Amino acid sequence: MTNELKDHVVLVTGGSRGIGLGIARAMADGGARVAVIGRNEERARSAADSLPGEGHGGFGCDVADPDQVKEAVPAVQDELGGVTVLVNNAGIARDNILLRLGDDDWDEVMAVNLKGAFNMTRAVTRAMMKRRDGVIINVSSVVGLTGNPGQSNYAASKAGLIGFTKSVARELASRNIRCNAIAPGYIETDMTGALDEKQTEALQERIPLGRLGTPEDIAGVARFLAGPAARYITGQVLTVDGGMVI
Ligand SMILES: NC(=O)c1ccc[n+]([C@@H]2O[C@H](COP(=O)([O-])OP(=O)(O)OC[C@H]3O[C@@H](n4cnc5c(N)ncnc54)[C@H](O)[C@@H]3O)[C@@H](O)[C@H]2O)c1
Repeated sequence: MTNELKDHVVLVTGGSRGIGLGIARAMADGGARVAVIGRNEERARSAADSLPGEGHGGFGCDVADPDQVKEAVPAVQDELGGVTVLVNNAGIARDNILLRLGDDDWDEVMAVNLKGAFNMTRAVTRAMMKRRDGVIINVSSVVGLTGNPGQSNYAASKAGLIGFTKSVARELASRNIRCNAIAPGYIETDMTGALDEKQTEALQERIPLGRLGTPEDIAGVARFLAGPAARYITGQVLTVDGGMVI
């Protein structure tokens, strides 16, 4: 493996577990120093300590809270250096059919999945613009492309993230800042929970590559998007779903 991310500081939100931890590990494998951001500082620190290589750090921050974000980003900069790659991965789901979806279910999902990405992106871009170099990766979902019954709030937040990605890409391209989204399909993590055999079989039938995804399937794509091989890619949505949405 090459060290193509050497000299990079990669900030991964929701990096303590699941897809975020997979992304943090892949970036560290690429030679980057990684800042893991999570709501729980202790868990973020222990995730950072588990990464290969040196110079990583864990930070407690609720991405939905602009004040916490305004404190966390300078703290990352002081400890690790200026952020060169931001991965907006933190996300939650509060699923329910439309008629039973409460105001809080709607607001909380928007606050974390969509406003959280805005809060973080706004906080890191000034320094990226000065440096005329930067990469932003937003973790959306295939559900943001197709919709899903029982997930109108989640799907709306993930579709919103795609509009945000394309706008940021257009706005910041002249400063050599690239912004792309990844739309994962069904990935086995705490968020999706354990499926029984019947559910797994039914799902696999809908996936041409015949298996559920892993955090590593997403992490490799994030590492690619962060690195020099993706230098001419911006404003795109890469669907990583085993062919579920073709
Ligand atoms: N698992 C899937 O099948 C799947 C599919 C498509 C998209 N995604 C997206 O991928 C991302 C990661 O999902 P996952 O499956 O690893 O979920 P997960 O629940 O295992 O991990 C999410 C992480 O985000 C953190 N987080 C949640 N709210 C936060 C907040 N307000 N501030 C800071 N951190 C916060 C959590 O603590 C956790 O570490 C999410 O954005 C999710 O919507 C997941």
